[in-house]
Amino acid sequence: MIKDFLLKHYSAGQLKKFRKKYEKLLVFLVKMIPFYGNLNALSLIFGSDKNAGHNYTQHYTRHFKKYRFKRIKLFEIGVGGYDDPNEGGASLRMWKKYFPFGKIFSLDIFDKSALQENRIKIYNGSQIDTDMLSHIVAENGEFDLIIDDGSHINNHIITTFQFLFPKLKDGGIYVIEDIQTSYWKEMGGDNENFNNPGTAINFCKKLTDCLNYSEFDIEGYQPDYYDLHITEIHFYHNLVFIYKNKNTEKSNVVNC
Ligand SMILES: C[S@@+](CC[C@H](N)C(=O)[O-])C[C@H]1O[C@@H](n2cnc3c(N)ncnc32)[C@H](O)[C@@H]1O
Repeated sequence: MIKDFLLKHYSAGQLKKFRKKYEKLLVFLVKMIPFYGNLNALSLIFGSDKNAGHNYTQHYTRHFKKYRFKRIKLFEIGVGGYDDPNEGGASLRMWKKYFPFGKIFSLDIFDKSALQENRIKIYNGSQIDTDMLSHIVAENGEFDLIIDDGSHINNHIITTFQFLFPKLKDGGIYVIEDIQTSYWKEMGGDNENFNNPGTAINFCKKLTDCLNYSEFDIEGYQPDYYDLHITEIHFYHNLVFIYKNKNTEKSNVVNC
C-alpha cells in the first residue's frame, strides 16, 4: 500500500535518492518498533512453532541478527499447513517482518500459492526435485540463508543439502531443523546404530571433519567442496547451523 502510494507520487529515481539519503534513519525507526526485532515474540505473533513447540528462535536470533537490515534472500523449505492450500506461511510472515529489507522464498510439496504476498514467493514441488531447485536458483540467484523445514526425511535432508549448499552465498548460513528424525526409523533414521552414515545427524557430524582438513597430514590429500567452504557448524537440540565461507585457515604444524 505504502509502496503504491509512493510510486504514484514519486519517480523511481526520486525514491532511490530518498532511500539512499534516509536509509539509516528508516533502519533506526524500524528498530524502535517494539517486537520487530524480537524473533521470540514474532514467532508467537505469527503462530510459528519455531518458539513455542521448539526453542529455535533463541538460536536463530543469535545467528541471524547480523543480517537483519541487509537485503537478504532467505529460502525456507516447507511452508506449513500441509495439504490445506490456505494454511501455513507462519514462519515466512515472521521472517518478512524480521528482515524488513529481505525477500523470502519457499517451496512446498503442496500448492501454497494462495499464501504469496509482497516479498514472499512460494514454489510448488519437492525438496528432492533438483530440476525444481535449479529453476528456483536460476530465477532468484544464490541465497544468503537457507532453512530446511520440509519433509524431515533423512535422505531428503541430505539430498537437498548436497544440491543447495553450493547455491548458498559465501558468508551465508544453512539451517536444518528437526534433525531428531535421525533417530526415527519411519523417517529413515536409526536408533540402534548411532554411526549409520545414512542419517542426517551423522552426515552433519561428518562435515565437522571439513573444518580441520588442513590438519589431516595425508600425502596428496585434495580438499573437497565441503572442506573448502564450511567454516562453522553449530549443533543444538534438534537444530544445526552450517556456515559457508572460504575455509582457507592453514595448520600451524602440518606442511609448515
Ligand atoms: C513443518 S511444516 C513447515 C512449517 C513452516 N516452515 C513454519 O515454520 O511455519 C513442513 C512442510 O513441509 C512440506 N513438505 C513435506 N514434504 C515435502 C517435500 N518433499 N518437499 C517440500 N515440502 C515438503 C509439508 O507439506 C509442510 O507444509
